[in-house]
Amino acid sequence: MTGFRKPDPRLSAVGELVSGRFLIDVGTDHAILPIYLCLAGKIDSAIASDIKKGPLENAKKNISEHGLSEKIQTVLAPGLCGMDNLSPSDIAIAGMGGIMIKDIIAPSAVARRAHLILQPMTHAHILRDYLCKNGFEITEERLAKADGRVYVIMTAVYTGKKCDYSPVEIYAGRFTRDYKKENAALCTEHYEKLLAVLGKKADSGRDAEAASLYAGTDKMKKEIFDNG
Ligand SMILES: C[S@@+](CC[C@H](N)C(=O)[O-])C[C@H]1O[C@@H](n2cnc3c(N)ncnc32)[C@H](O)[C@@H]1O
Repeated sequence: MTGFRKPDPRLSAVGELVSGRFLIDVGTDHAILPIYLCLAGKIDSAIASDIKKGPLENAKKNISEHGLSEKIQTVLAPGLCGMDNLSPSDIAIAGMGGIMIKDIIAPSAVARRAHLILQPMTHAHILRDYLCKNGFEITEERLAKADGRVYVIMTAVYTGKKCDYSPVEIYAGRFTRDYKKENAALCTEHYEKLLAVLGKKADSGRDAEAASLYAGTDKMKKEIFDNG
C-alpha cells in the first residue's frame, strides 16, 4: 500500500474490528479509516459521512487523490440520518464523545442491523449503559494507546436482549482474562485512570456509588496479575 500512512493505533484498532465488506464511517473527517481499509483490501466500499461541510470536503479530496471515488461515497448528514435504506456490514463511530455516539445510535434503524465499532473519547460508561439497557450486546472491548492516552474501543450488535454487564463493568468495561494478560500495561493504565477519578469522587462523599465502583475496578486491576 503506497502513499497512505497507517492510521494511529486508536484508529487502526477500530479498523481491525471491521468484520465485513461495506462500512459506514460516521464522523469521517478526512476519511482516513475508509481509505485505509479500501487500500488494504479489507472492505469493498464505504460511506464516509460527516455533519460538517469542511471535513467532508477534506474527505472528498483525500478519497479522490487515492483513486477511490468509485468505492467511497461521501454523505453530508448528522449521524446516521437518511441511511436506514442501506445494508452496511459495519458502522464505525470513532473520535466523538460517548453521549454523542449514544445519541447517533438511539434513533437509528440501520444501527440495529450492523456490526458497530464504537470509540468514545469520553463517557464510555454512559455509552455502555445505553447499549446494555437497549438491547445491544457488547461483543468485545479493546484498548489502544495513541498520543500518550489510552482509548476504549467496543463492538456491539443489536440482539433485543438486555446485556449482563455488572455496574462495575458498565463503568470500567469488560476485558477477557487473556486480553488483560496480553495487554497488562495498557489495562493497568486504563484502570488507574478510572481509579483516580473514582477515588476523588469517593473521598468527596457526594457520590454514593463511587466507593463500590472503586473497589470493583481495583479488583479488576488486581486480576491482571492474578495467576489463578
Ligand atoms: C475528531 S473527528 C474524528 C474523526 C475520525 N472518526 C477519527 O476517529 O479519527 C470527529 C468528526 O465527527 C464529526 N461529527 C461530530 N458530530 C457528528 C454527528 N452528529 N454526525 C456526524 N459527524 C459528526 C465532526 O465534524 C468531525 O469531523
